[in-house]
Amino acid sequence: MASPSKRIVLVAGATGKQGRATARHLLRLPQPSASEEWTVWALTRNAGSTAALSLLREAEDTGGGAGSHIELVEGDLDEPDSIRAIFDRGGAGIYGVFAVFAFQGLGAKPDKERGQAKLLANLSLEFRVPAFVYSSTVPTSSNIDDTTEPGHKVKREIEDYCQTELGPQGLNWTFLRPGIFMENFEGGLGPITTAIFHHGLKKDTTILPIASDDIGKLAAGIFANHAQYLHKTLVATSGAATMQEVVDGYRRATGKAMPAVPAFAAAVLLYLNAGVRNIIQQVERNHEARASGELATFEVEVALARSVCEVQDFEQWTRGKAEAAAAAVTKGLAADAAEGNRSWNNVSLFKVLTGRA
Ligand SMILES: NC(=O)c1ccc[n+]([C@@H]2O[C@H](COP(=O)([O-])OP(=O)(O)OC[C@H]3O[C@@H](n4cnc5c(N)ncnc54)[C@H](OP(=O)(O)O)[C@@H]3O)[C@@H](O)[C@H]2O)c1
Repeated sequence: MASPSKRIVLVAGATGKQGRATARHLLRLPQPSASEEWTVWALTRNAGSTAALSLLREAEDTGGGAGSHIELVEGDLDEPDSIRAIFDRGGAGIYGVFAVFAFQGLGAKPDKERGQAKLLANLSLEFRVPAFVYSSTVPTSSNIDDTTEPGHKVKREIEDYCQTELGPQGLNWTFLRPGIFMENFEGGLGPITTAIFHHGLKKDTTILPIASDDIGKLAAGIFANHAQYLHKTLVATSGAATMQEVVDGYRRATGKAMPAVPAFAAAVLLYLNAGVRNIIQQVERNHEARASGELATFEVEVALARSVCEVQDFEQWTRGKAEAAAAAVTKGLAADAAEGNRSWNNVSLFKVLTGRA
């Protein structure tokens, strides 16, 4: 009997939060047909890095197949030839591309992200990839203007490029718009983020939390059933929640107060750092845009994501993390417990505040 052909999904950011989760959930999908098998091509700049090797190790556990359906592919999105070589090798075998691009730092110029996105989208069109899933973010308002944070603005520009320029030429785009990652509230920066959000936002302002694992689950679900989501936008969130509801959920899940730096420290940071103030303004703006109906298609996009799969709310996610950490510690796997506990977007506080590595 002929061996099954590969249904390749090239996953950008595969060593990061969203890409890793997408790879994990692709490997859990039932095979698309008797003659095909899902194969993850995990993009990384360094196949020998700790993050890349831990991805393979995790895939062996997840896939149960000694990682045979995942392959690390080296390429740098800032070096177009390296990415073209991957498409040349995959050819018509590349079924999907999961496009996500690293955070460049608050207020940083988004040129890099724009260039990386155009490269992946252009190649996906050129190679007639059947499913191009771009993970962007929930818009802060219906329009972009001079006050829109550059990281948000560039994502709208990229969506627009995919939809209005490449779409008519045949790009098979789907947009997945995540809310705020629950991981922002854990790790080294978690207590700072929690305090800034809790004290910086108005009491009634809601945020849109989502676990990065659930973004991956949604992305895999979209690839599994792409015709249903072709040329559609989906919002990845567990639902709108105030910071008080988030903090209360944490307490219910763990019996403890959610770690946060003192309110005065958050106030100082908000006072001193324009980038942090801007985050709060963008969240307020997003809340107002949802509340006023300005984001007219928002609820439809949330409902569409719900049609893919269920996602965890903050309390469920916190409980799951606490249980996993306890189990890892019991097994003496302290390193694994720390693995899911890395800081915000895998960047240092310095990079978050300055945009510089
Ligand atoms: N934090 C939030 O609440 C939130 C909410 C909505 C959207 N977002 C967006 O999510 C995105 C970040 O996603 P994430 O947190 O999943 O990423 P992440 O965990 O920070 O990981 C970044 C990934 O990008 C890869 N990468 C970086 N530079 C690269 C290059 N030049 N070529 C190829 N790969 C490169 C890294 O791979 P290697 O190092 O292995 O090469 C790594 O896998 C940002 O655009 C951010 O704006 C964040």
